Amino acid sequence: MTSSENKTTQTLAQLGISSAEQITPLFAEIQAEFDADASKEFIEVLWKEFRDQWLGRKSGILSRITDNWLKPASPELKRSVGAGLNQLRAHVEAKIEERRLSIEANEEQWTRAHDHFDLSLPGVTRPVGSHHLIRQVFQEIEDIFVSIGFSVVEGPEIETPYYNFEALNIPEFHPVRDDMDTFYIELPKGAPSPLLLRTHTSPMQIRTMEKRQPPVRVIVPGKVYRRDNPDATHSFAFHQVEGLAVDTDITFCDFTGTIEYFVKQFFGPGVKTRFRPSYFPFTEPSVEFDVTCVFCGGSGVSAGGGTCSKCKGAGWIELFGAGMVDPAVYGFVGYDAKKVSGFAFGIGIDRLAMLKYGIDDIQVFFQSDVRFLRQFP
Ligand code: DAH
Repeated sequence: MTSSENKTTQTLAQLGISSAEQITPLFAEIQAEFDADASKEFIEVLWKEFRDQWLGRKSGILSRITDNWLKPASPELKRSVGAGLNQLRAHVEAKIEERRLSIEANEEQWTRAHDHFDLSLPGVTRPVGSHHLIRQVFQEIEDIFVSIGFSVVEGPEIETPYYNFEALNIPEFHPVRDDMDTFYIELPKGAPSPLLLRTHTSPMQIRTMEKRQPPVRVIVPGKVYRRDNPDATHSFAFHQVEGLAVDTDITFCDFTGTIEYFVKQFFGPGVKTRFRPSYFPFTEPSVEFDVTCVFCGGSGVSAGGGTCSKCKGAGWIELFGAGMVDPAVYGFVGYDAKKVSGFAFGIGIDRLAMLKYGIDDIQVFFQSDVRFLRQFP
């Protein structure tokens, strides 16, 4: 409460004023406070508050002077209180009107200045980002497979050991778990099943076949996790695209034809593919697909005449694992292994992106350095 507000809630008697000489200094004090407040910078909202504080009908300071000072004043004081009040009211009203006019003028000026739009000025352009290279490579791969009848499905990154291992024909003490059995989630006691970050996208083979009857043709892009120490070719999180095709009449020829079509679409028609026997518990037979080195064109010799450092002179680069779905896997999803056949593959996306775009360190995919990202708009 300001001093004027405080004083005007009391009567003159309560303020200890009994003679007419004390009235003039009292009004002078009130007016000085008004003048000090009135000269402050106001925004319009505050200005209204200020006006009501002084001139408000019910509890404005001037009304309070009328009610608390003038009305109860003794006959000797009434005259000078009345005169003081009239003078103060005239002063306050004039000043407040003056402020109102100047605030309104300012507002009008402001509005005029800001209402004027120059439509010929260039707009505000915000920098537009782009997809991360990994996302772009996912998209390229999805487009190729969608064009030959595959559909895209996605699945959970947190998996149960059943989907990540057992149903893929990897029982508990199988040696291939060694480099995959990793990143378990800490769960409360009594949780129904352990949980882990999936080590590959292959669990989605099982989840898809549980839900759908053949023919099945899906690809599964996604993130996977392993207990790998980071270096130029390893990261604890990376990306894969799983593929699965199951029907009543799928042959090994369909399998190699599909893979070769994909590789040529992705790297260009000039590359050659080959496959070598390999081993995965969930495929039989299993193969490893190679492609002719995209850096030396398969010659094993670099542009400078030396040994190609990318394929180490071999002329071939290992691409990804694949195979015909092991009949044991069908047993886990209730398919009749005698009636259906199919193939599956698991492509490491980071590796593919590195090969296609000549990147020699997988870590750049995870560092979010815009100087790198901007090179792939
Ligand atoms: N899941 C395997 C891995 O991450 C890759 C793989 C190999 C997937 C062969 C497949 C496959 O579907 O048939 O190492």
